[in-house]
Amino acid sequence: MNKVYLHLNEVLTLEGAARKDGRKLLPSDLSLIQDGAVAVEGDTIVWVGETATLPTKYQSYEKHPLPGHVLTPELVDSHTHIVFGGDRAQEYADRLNGISYEEIRKRGGGILLTMNKTNLATTPDLYETACRRIERLYSYGIGAIEIKSGYGLNLAKEREISRVINKLKKHFEPRIRIFNTYLAAHDVPTAFSSSVEYMDKVVIPLLEEIAQEKIIDAVDIFHEQNYFSEDDTRKLFEKARSLGIARKTHADELNDNGGASLAVEFEALSADHLLKISNEGITKLSNSKTVATLLPGTAFFLGKPLAPARALLDGGAKVAIASDFNPGSCHCDNLLLIGSLAAPQMKLNQTELWCGMTLNAAHALGFKDQGAIIPGMKARFALFKTESLSHITYNWGKNLRVSLP
Ligand code: NIG
Ligand code: FE
Repeated sequence: MNKVYLHLNEVLTLEGAARKDGRKLLPSDLSLIQDGAVAVEGDTIVWVGETATLPTKYQSYEKHPLPGHVLTPELVDSHTHIVFGGDRAQEYADRLNGISYEEIRKRGGGILLTMNKTNLATTPDLYETACRRIERLYSYGIGAIEIKSGYGLNLAKEREISRVINKLKKHFEPRIRIFNTYLAAHDVPTAFSSSVEYMDKVVIPLLEEIAQEKIIDAVDIFHEQNYFSEDDTRKLFEKARSLGIARKTHADELNDNGGASLAVEFEALSADHLLKISNEGITKLSNSKTVATLLPGTAFFLGKPLAPARALLDGGAKVAIASDFNPGSCHCDNLLLIGSLAAPQMKLNQTELWCGMTLNAAHALGFKDQGAIIPGMKARFALFKTESLSHITYNWGKNLRVSLP
C-alpha cells in the first residue's frame, strides 16, 4: 500500500545523525522538518520533506493529513530482562534502608531470588506476563525490543525461556521486532562451586544445543566481580563466535573489569552499563563499532553515579540509551521517561538523546534498516499527538504513541 503522511507539525528524520553514523552529534543533526510529509511504499520510506514540496508523483498516494502530530523513528529498547517471575519490592526497601545491591546478593537475594520465582512460574505464565509487558513498551513508541533470558539459570528453565522469547518473536513480528539474547551467564546458582563449573555444565553446553534451533540472536554475560570473570567471558564469546552468534555484555557496571575493552576485542554489538568504565575502555569503545549502551534507569534505581556519557560521546562512541527493565536493578520499563530524566544529568544534547533511543539503539541490535526517517529505511515510526518534538520529552513520563493511519 502506498501512503503519504502530510502536514505533520514535525518529523524527526535524524538524517544528519545517520550520515555521521550516530557519532559526535550536534543539535542540528536532529534534521527536524516542520510541516513535514513522509511517503511510504509498503514498509519502505520513499520520500521525506516539507509538505509544500511533495513531488506530484506522490500526490496520488493514499493521503493522511496529521496536523497536531509529531512523527519520530520508532523507539528501540535494546536492553531488557522482560521474562521473569515475582518481584523484588522488598529489596528496593532494603536498599533504602542501607543494604547495598552487592550485600543483598551475598545474602542469597538479587538475581537468585528472581531465579527462584521464575522457576516456580509456568511457561504460559511467563509468556502471558511478557506479552503484557511488551504491549506496554509498544504503547510508549517502542517497536523493537531486545529480551534477555537469564532468570532460569538451569538447563531446563533457560532452554524454556529462550523458547518463550522465540515464541514472543513469532507472535509479535512484524509489528514489534524482538531480539533474542541468551543470558544464562547472569549469575551462578549456589548449587555450583564456581562460575567455571556453571559455565562448563550449563552455559556452554546449552548454547551449543540451542544454537541448533537457530533462535538465539546474541549471547550476553554479567562480566563482574563475584559473578563471571574475564576467562568465563572469553569462553562464552569464543563459543558464540564459532557458532556465528553475536556478542553483547554487561560490562564495568559495579567495578571496572576491562569489560568494555573485551567487548571491542570480540567485536560485540554492544557493551552495556559502563558505570565504572576506565579511560582505556572509553578510548577503545570510542574507536570501535561496538555501541556503548547506557542504562541510566539502573544507576537511578541503585543510587549509583551515572556512566561517563560525555566522555564517551566526545570520544566519538556510538551511544545508545536503554531501559534495562528488570525486577531488581531497574523496575521501570518507560524508556522515554528514563531518557527525559537522564539527558540533563548526563548532559546530552537533544540529538544525542533521540539518536540514543532510536538509530544507535537499533545498531546495538545489528538492525541497520531502521532508526531514521530517510528514503530506503523501513517505515517504522512512532506517532505522538503533541505540538513538537520538545514536548515529548518535556512532558516526561506522560507521552503515549497514537496509532498511525
Ligand atoms: O542489568 N547487571 C546484571 N543484570 C541486571 C540486574 C538484574 C537483576 O538485578 O535482577 C542489570 O542490571
Ligand atoms: Fe541488564
